[in-house]
Amino acid sequence: MNIERSQNEEAARLLRQRQEISSQDLFLARLTREEALQIVSASREQPPPSDSSDSGILQDAVVGSNLQSPSSPESTTSYTELRDDALTCTRCGLAESRKNVVFSAGVEDACVMVVGEAPGANEDDTGLPFVGAAGKFLDLLLATVDLSRERNTYICNVIKCRPPGNRDPMPDEIKSCSPFLTRQIQLIQPEALLAVGSFAARLLTGREKTALGRMRGEVHNYQGVPLIATYHPAALLRNPKWTCAFWEDLQLLRQVLNSG
Ligand code: URA
Repeated sequence: MNIERSQNEEAARLLRQRQEISSQDLFLARLTREEALQIVSASREQPPPSDSSDSGILQDAVVGSNLQSPSSPESTTSYTELRDDALTCTRCGLAESRKNVVFSAGVEDACVMVVGEAPGANEDDTGLPFVGAAGKFLDLLLATVDLSRERNTYICNVIKCRPPGNRDPMPDEIKSCSPFLTRQIQLIQPEALLAVGSFAARLLTGREKTALGRMRGEVHNYQGVPLIATYHPAALLRNPKWTCAFWEDLQLLRQVLNSG
């Protein structure tokens, strides 16, 4: 057994222990394993949901017609073209204050795409997503279900440039930037998506007004791709009691991948 694998198993064992001792945060709220797997199989055959009662500008930005507008990446754009386009993008005001565009990390033949919110200071400095404390915690948790950016995971954000002072992204910034994410998903073709934090979860589910706690623990469908929404790793650092819920969502993600 190599060192990386035994560390992952040790981390998984610790999380399992936490799960056992603090029961009320931890049970999978809505789905049994069988129900989740049924939904995944069905989602591969069905078109995306048409319910728009909780959707609006954010979902339009991802799946709507602006994808084809002249200033947005076209559905024929190659990965290299898309990346080059993003790295020189001036579609919103964030271009003025950024140091680096943060396009992605990880492998392009990934089985999982993790989607976060927006770069912070460390990411702006390096041009890579999730390299600060939250990113290190994310890597540790992903490793417990045998996922890593080196081998099988692609990581990116809804917004590719740092909002000044780490403020929340504005709707117009999300609208300008999200066609990049749309095309990234089309090109990477992950087996499953993991949205971390409410910005990514709301955008990709189209449920703009729904609290993250009500979206986690189940398998959603983004354009035929199974989607799991969970807490942002930075929120876990502030609220450690959510860590087990996050880990349960990772278990669900693993089940989805294993059922594919
Ligand atoms: N938080 C995010 O959502 N993305 C990053 O890349 C870093 C922190």
